[in-house]
Amino acid sequence: MKLLITGASGLYGSKLAETALGRQYQVYAVHNQHSAAHGVPVQLDITEKAKVEKEISEIKPDAVVHAASMTNVDECDLSRELAWKINVEGTRNVAQAAEASKAFFLYISTDYVFDGEKGRYKETDLPSPINYYAYTKLKAEESVKGALINYCIARPSVIYGATTAAGKINFALWILNKLKNKEEIKVFVDQYNSPTLNTSLVDMTLEVLERRLTGVYHLSGASRISRYDFALSLAKTFGLDEALLVPARMKELSFPAKRPKDSSLNTAKAQRTLKSKPLKIEQAVEKLKTEMTQLHI
Ligand SMILES: NC(=O)c1ccc[n+]([C@@H]2O[C@H](COP(=O)([O-])OP(=O)(O)OC[C@H]3O[C@@H](n4cnc5c(N)ncnc54)[C@H](OP(=O)(O)O)[C@@H]3O)[C@@H](O)[C@H]2O)c1
Repeated sequence: MKLLITGASGLYGSKLAETALGRQYQVYAVHNQHSAAHGVPVQLDITEKAKVEKEISEIKPDAVVHAASMTNVDECDLSRELAWKINVEGTRNVAQAAEASKAFFLYISTDYVFDGEKGRYKETDLPSPINYYAYTKLKAEESVKGALINYCIARPSVIYGATTAAGKINFALWILNKLKNKEEIKVFVDQYNSPTLNTSLVDMTLEVLERRLTGVYHLSGASRISRYDFALSLAKTFGLDEALLVPARMKELSFPAKRPKDSSLNTAKAQRTLKSKPLKIEQAVEKLKTEMTQLHI
C-alpha cells in the first residue's frame, strides 16, 4: 500500500511511518519544520493548497493519514489565525486532495472536542469544545465529513511514547526525566483522560487502514485516569521515587487556554471492532518500559 502521512516528524506520525515501512508499505512522510526520519521525505506546508494538491496528485497514495496539526493548546488560543489556517484550512486542503486521488483518509482528531464535564465519552456523544485548539479540530472533523466519502476520524487522548519528536517532549517522558533527576513535580489529581501510547495508536490505526474502517473511532488507551495516577503508574513501573509527585489541582495553575476536566474516552467500539485493542494503563506503561529498554533509553 502507498501511504502518505502528514505530521510524519511528530510523536505519532514518525512511529506510524517507521512501523508501516516495517510492514512493507511505501511511505511518503510529509513534514514541515522538522525532518522525518522514516519514509520518503516530502517537505510541505499543508496551508499551501496548490502545493498540497500537486504533491498528492503526483504521489497518488492509496491512503492518507492526516496527523499534522498545530498541537500546542495554549499557542492555538494565542495565535488563532494560524491555528485556523493549519488545523482547519490545512485539513481541508489535504482532505480535498486525498478525495481527488480517491485515497482512503484517516484524520487524527482529539478527545479535547468534548467539554470534559462528563468523561468516558462515546463516539455518539456531542462534542462541545472549550478551547480554540479543540474548536479547530472539531471544525476540521466537519470539513473531513464534507470533503470525503471514505474517511475515518480517530480520536486519541494524551499521546506519549519512548522518544521526543518534532522538537518536543511528551507527558510520560517529562515525568520520567524529572523523577530520574530527583526533582519534585506538581501533577493534577483532578484532570482525567485516557493516555494513549503512540505504538498502540499506530497498531490500531494501521488496522483501520488495512480494513478500510469508516466513521468515528475513539482510539485511545482503555483507562480513565488522572494525570497524577498516570504519573504514579510510571514511577512504580520504572522503579522511581513516587514521593516526588506532588498532588496539585487545576485551579492552582493558570494557562492561556482552558482544559477539559475529564476528557476520558469510552473505547468500547474499538474494543469490539479491532483485533489491536486499546491498552489498559498498566499494559501500556509496561510496553513503554520494554520499548525504552530496547532503545537503550
Ligand atoms: N499529543 C497529544 O497528546 C494528542 C492528543 C490528542 C490528539 N492529538 C492529535 O494527534 C495528532 C498527532 O499529534 P502529535 O502529538 O504526534 O503531533 P506533534 O508531535 O505535535 O507533531 C505535529 C506535526 O504536525 C506538523 N505540522 C504542523 N504544522 C504544519 C504545517 N503547516 N504543514 C505541515 N505539517 C505541519 C509538524 O511538522 P514539523 O514539526 O515538521 O513542522 C509535526 O509533524 C495531531 O493531529 C493532534 O492534534 C494529539
